Amino acid sequence: MKLIITPDAASATHVAAHLLADTIRQRPDAVLGLATGRTMEGVYAALADIHRAEALSFSGIASFNLDEYVGLPPSDPRSYRHYMQTHLFDHVDANERHIHVPNGVAADLKTECAAYEAAIRTHGGISLQLLGIGDTGHIGFNEPPSPFDTRTRVVELDAATRQQNAEMFGGDPEAVPSEAITMGVGTILDAKRLLMVATGPAKADIVAAALEGPITPDVSASAIRLHGDVVVVLDEASAGALSPETRALANAG
Ligand code: F6R
Repeated sequence: MKLIITPDAASATHVAAHLLADTIRQRPDAVLGLATGRTMEGVYAALADIHRAEALSFSGIASFNLDEYVGLPPSDPRSYRHYMQTHLFDHVDANERHIHVPNGVAADLKTECAAYEAAIRTHGGISLQLLGIGDTGHIGFNEPPSPFDTRTRVVELDAATRQQNAEMFGGDPEAVPSEAITMGVGTILDAKRLLMVATGPAKADIVAAALEGPITPDVSASAIRLHGDVVVVLDEASAGALSPETRALANAG
């Protein structure tokens, strides 16, 4: 695992955006696994800046998002499909036909999940998977416990996650959909490279649990330690509960 600790959130998201940009430069037809949430807003803003300033083209990439709320159509401003449009795709030259976000209003959700897995395979797998970490330790919406061989499926959201994401729903956790489609932990671990980003003091304890605690389905982010090519980018605040031994890994090589 490569660990990068930056002074603040802006520099963490900047570093993550540059890692994504490097992937696209090395492989203009890269298959990007994308995430949503507050942390990623800074990553996508920085990536859009790189697109403009350095003429980085997204025209050859394909993308697969981690998750989507069940019951929200892509046009709903609270849907993750809409998030991706406003935070990234409106600002870069990605080909609409190659953008994939699970369809939370599919008539048959089980078929939708199987088709999503098949589409990732058809594209040759994910080159780089971007990940945030939730208060429950989830990656994607893999709430505890999520076995490490899980694939794309419908999950029930944890009460803590509905609380975490309530802001977009008028502050009411009950208004947050109770279910979502998410790539599984196994789907995520199949990506060739993982890039996890966390910022802010509220993430410090769960980041330490994921990186130093037991590798367990109870903290799905701990699964990333089983992957051979992982980069974790943290700001000082989210790295605040790490042991000196783990911190010593930071910014080495
Ligand atoms: C969203 C996702 C989630 C978030 C996590 C952190 O697509 O996959 O795992 O990355 O909940 O969210 P923020 O960044 O809002 O704290």
